[in-house]
Amino acid sequence: MAMSQRAVRAKSSIDRVTAFFSSIQAAAHDPDALDFTFGNPHEFALPGLTDAMRAQLEPRSVDWYAYKSNERPAQEAVADGLRREIGLDFEPDDIAMTQGAFGAIALALALVADAGDEIVIPAPGWFCYEPMLLAANLVPVTAALDATDFSLDIDAIARAITPRTRVVIVNSPSNPTGRVFPKAAWDELAVALESASRAHGRRIWLLSDEPYRRIRFDGIGFASPVGSYPWTMIDYSYGKVLLAPGQRLGYLALSPLMPASDRDELRAAFMPIQLAIGWGFPNALMQHSAPALETVSIDIAELTRKRDRMYDELSRAGYALTRPEGTFYLWGEAPSGDAQTYCDALAAQGVHLMPGTIFDRPAHFRVSLTATMDMIDRALPALVAAAHTPER
Ligand SMILES: Cc1ncc(COP(=O)(O)O)c(C=O)c1O
Repeated sequence: MAMSQRAVRAKSSIDRVTAFFSSIQAAAHDPDALDFTFGNPHEFALPGLTDAMRAQLEPRSVDWYAYKSNERPAQEAVADGLRREIGLDFEPDDIAMTQGAFGAIALALALVADAGDEIVIPAPGWFCYEPMLLAANLVPVTAALDATDFSLDIDAIARAITPRTRVVIVNSPSNPTGRVFPKAAWDELAVALESASRAHGRRIWLLSDEPYRRIRFDGIGFASPVGSYPWTMIDYSYGKVLLAPGQRLGYLALSPLMPASDRDELRAAFMPIQLAIGWGFPNALMQHSAPALETVSIDIAELTRKRDRMYDELSRAGYALTRPEGTFYLWGEAPSGDAQTYCDALAAQGVHLMPGTIFDRPAHFRVSLTATMDMIDRALPALVAAAHTPER
């Protein structure tokens, strides 16, 4: 067989997602199809994004498009932004510029985890953690979120930890549930991680996956675990807030609370390990554009209106939904309890949702609110009608 064992394992973990992705490609190109599956844009890119890139396109020096590693202006802009948002003293050297959150997660794992280490991930959670871990020869271990409201279940995380655990990954605002976790949860998690690290004589790292950090509703605050547990790294992506996931830009940030010996070691390791994992830096144009992009965002007020329209109408129709506090996803229970059948029936009417099978939750479905309001209006009659299936 040509493939490595780790490639075989990673591929089989993500096969159902890539198959689903292929199956909705036809729909994605059909102007009448209503696609609520992946968090892709359904409108033209933000002018703030194209303006920022256009302003940086013309070279200003011979090295404008030379190899770029962690460019200082980009690191400074990110550190400034994090200081403002999180209130800790991030320095430019704490920042590794990456190709989105994907690149930052890969970097974090390469920095601190060895082959065979166990990595705790949330369930339900983003479907790419597992294949990424498997491709890196790491062992995914799931820790369930609370079964009713999908809040962080610290006991479940503590139970998932073994002497082989090296990293715990958390995600707030959460994909697919839209939940945002409070500081009290992080403080409690920090106690659990500190105690487990001591018990096993091995430091457990926390990776806070925060690509939706700036996408929150109703003025809900944001707390990062980086303020509660010193051995935290944040991964971030601009792909969500700019709704341009094809322009790869993100970063990994070290907690300023980290002991100096660890912080210095990781700072010094950024550049060589980014190189070692395959030149894990954003391309030159995105790094030049990063300072201007710090303040560009999708229209959160409009996203809130879309959330409200979808959530209110579907709730009224009888759906059991988790009200999103952040992200651009809405998570609900399939009326029949069988999300695949429910989603297939809607797909036959041209309305495409993501079945919870993708998240190992076969009774749930996810709606991406990156769809336009017009698409929502057009999909609602079919969604409302599907609330009352014969099985109910
Ligand atoms: C929870 C979570 N983490 C990380 C990512 C990766 O983000 P990006 O593709 O912008 O790197 C995503 C993208 O869907 C996500 O939902």
